[in-house]
Amino acid sequence: LSIGQLSPAEFSKLVLNASAYKQATKAAFAAGPGQVPRTLDGKLKGRTVAMMFSKRSTRTRVSTEAAVALMGGHPMFLGKDDIQLGVNESLYDTSKVISSMTSCMVARVGPHSDVANLAKDSSVPVINALSDDFHPLQAIADFQTIHEAFATKPAHEASLGLEGMKVAWVGDSNNVLFDMATACVMLGVDIAVASPAGYGIPDRMKQIILSAAEGVAKPGKLIETTVPEEAVKDADILVTDTWVSMGQEAETQRRLKAFAGFQITNELAKRGGAKPGWKFMHCLPRHPEEVDDEVFYGPQSLVFPEAENRLWAAVSALEAFVVNNGRIL
Ligand code: CP
Ligand code: NVA
Repeated sequence: LSIGQLSPAEFSKLVLNASAYKQATKAAFAAGPGQVPRTLDGKLKGRTVAMMFSKRSTRTRVSTEAAVALMGGHPMFLGKDDIQLGVNESLYDTSKVISSMTSCMVARVGPHSDVANLAKDSSVPVINALSDDFHPLQAIADFQTIHEAFATKPAHEASLGLEGMKVAWVGDSNNVLFDMATACVMLGVDIAVASPAGYGIPDRMKQIILSAAEGVAKPGKLIETTVPEEAVKDADILVTDTWVSMGQEAETQRRLKAFAGFQITNELAKRGGAKPGWKFMHCLPRHPEEVDDEVFYGPQSLVFPEAENRLWAAVSALEAFVVNNGRIL
């Protein structure tokens, strides 16, 4: 349901498996059309994955459906107008019924308690496809992207070889950030978060993020500021997300005003003193107010490999939680 439920070794393994499946599948595709690597073929044969989405989605929907198909299973997309959930039937009843007929539920919800309650009452694994609090599949894909772009030393599993790096998050403190920051702390990557006053990390989320440091020899630091340049100083990666998440549409005007000055641009990176060769990441969907075209489409942008890696993150998560019953091998 969130990255905080994993140990650093488990999280790293999910990332490394995602990367390995990407390479193996691409090699198999290159060998001939329709080829699937033997390691994936048929892993979900005869199994149905229910995808219950109460909000729209491009990447999460497409990556999950494609991953289930690659693994020989049947993805069943259930949008908010397709099933009784939330309109005519309780979460409890829905969870009992759907889990009696499928092998996994992948759920995109508003309040995090909705996906937590689905999981509590389900007889099959439930994967969070984004809630108001967390986006764990995005964090797996993001660290796969960082690992593929940056890791220079051989990754030992608990750190991915990324210790000492610095991520600068400039923008809203939201669901995507909370799981990314948790992963950073676990892996010894410092993360500096710059948000306008009043839009910083809520205390309950800070506690979850910081508790990821427990038992980690050299955890990453969480730095908070309201000054974008401070976050950007010496950063290897600049990251942002929309200023108006799904469900916050009524706050759009207030938010656009509050976040003025937080757009990621090459000028900000220069003024703030980002590391030479810094990279840019964004989970997408993107709006120009949070990052300009020059950065988003520029040579330092990792956004499209990052989006593609959602497929491999989905494969890795489905293998661990559905095929292997939660054992991350
Ligand atoms: N990044 C992401 O989750 O995108 P979608 O909302 O399109 O699924
Ligand atoms: N923070 C965004 C992420 C979308 C993938 C939202 O919740 O709408």
